[in-house]
Amino acid sequence: MLILAPMQGLTEVLFRRVYERHFPKALDYAVSPFLSLTHGTVASDEQLDDVLPENNVGSMRVVPQLLGKEKEEFVVMAEGLQKLGYDEVNWNIGCPMRRVAAKHRGSGILPFPDEIDEVLRYVTARVGVALSVKMRIGHRSGDESERVIDVLNAYDLKSVTIHPRTGKQQYGGTPDLQRFGECLKRLRHKVIYNGDICTAEDYNSIVQRFGVHDVMIGRGVLYDPSLPLKIRGEECDSRKRAADMVQDLMDEIVRVFPADQPRVRKMKEYWCLAYRSLGVVESRARELLRLEGYEEFKKGVEQEVERLKVG
Ligand SMILES: Cc1cc2nc3c(=O)[nH]c(=O)nc-3n(C[C@H](O)[C@H](O)[C@H](O)COP(=O)(O)O)c2cc1C
Repeated sequence: MLILAPMQGLTEVLFRRVYERHFPKALDYAVSPFLSLTHGTVASDEQLDDVLPENNVGSMRVVPQLLGKEKEEFVVMAEGLQKLGYDEVNWNIGCPMRRVAAKHRGSGILPFPDEIDEVLRYVTARVGVALSVKMRIGHRSGDESERVIDVLNAYDLKSVTIHPRTGKQQYGGTPDLQRFGECLKRLRHKVIYNGDICTAEDYNSIVQRFGVHDVMIGRGVLYDPSLPLKIRGEECDSRKRAADMVQDLMDEIVRVFPADQPRVRKMKEYWCLAYRSLGVVESRARELLRLEGYEEFKKGVEQEVERLKVG
C-alpha cells in the first residue's frame, strides 16, 4: 500500500481532492494532518472541515489523526469520528515540534513509555474504532523505541508507522535504517515505513531490504506527484501532469480562500515544495516567493506552467 503522509498545512482536504482528480487511485489512502486534543473534546472548525465526509467527496480514503495525551478527549474524539463514519483513528506520537514535545505530546511522549501505556490502556478499552500509531524512533535517542515497542506490542493496533528519525533530529540527517530494521523485527504489528522516499529507487531499496509492503510518503509526493505511479511501474509524462495539478491547486486555493493574504500564503506553502515537480530551478522559485500579491504570484506560477507545457 502507498499512503499519503499527514502534513499540516499541505495534505489537507484541498490537496487530497486535487491530487485524486489528477492521480486517481495512485495512493491507497491518506492519514489526515493531526487534530489536536488540546482543544478539548471539540475540534476547531478548520480541523473538523478537514475530516468531514462531505468535504472529502472526491478525495482518497482518509484516516483521521489525533495528537495529544489527553485520554478522555481522545475517546470522545474517536467516538465522534466513528459517528462520522471512520473505522480507524491514528495516534501521532512522532510530532517533533518543540512546544508540542515539551508537554509529552508527539515525539515528546516517547521517553515516557508508561504514559503511552496509560493512554493506550484507557483508550483501547473504550473505543470501537481500530487504532493505528505513527511514531519516530525516539525523542532524544533511538534507544527509546525499545521500551515503546514493548508497550505497543501489548495492544491491538492496526498498524505502526515508523519514521526512523528522533524528534530532536526534526528533518535533519538521514533516517536510521538500522534502527528501523530492529523495530521491525520486534514489533508484532503491521509496520509501515516512512521517511525520505523521493524516487522509485528509494522505495525499491526499502522494500527489498526490509520486505515491507506498506510505505507512507509525504514530501516525495509534493516534489513529484507522479511518484506513486512510478513506484507502481506506470509510464507517465510526470512534468506535464505535475504542471496541470499545480495549476489546478492554485485555482482551488483562489476558490477556497476568499482573502488575499491567506491565499498567497497557502500558494507559497505548496510552491516551496512543488516547484521541483515542474523542474523550476531554486533561484527562480525563490524569486517568485518574493512576490507579495496573490495575483502576481499566481501569474508567476502560471508562466512556469506554460513554459513547461510549451517546452
Ligand atoms: C510541513 C510538515 C507537516 C507535517 N505534519 C504532520 C502531521 O500533522 N502529522 C504527522 O504525523 N506528521 C506530520 N509531518 C511528518 C510527515 O508525516 C512525515 O512523517 C515526514 O515528512 C517524513 O516523511 P517524508 O520524508 O516522506 O516527507 C509533517 C511534516 C512536514 C514537513
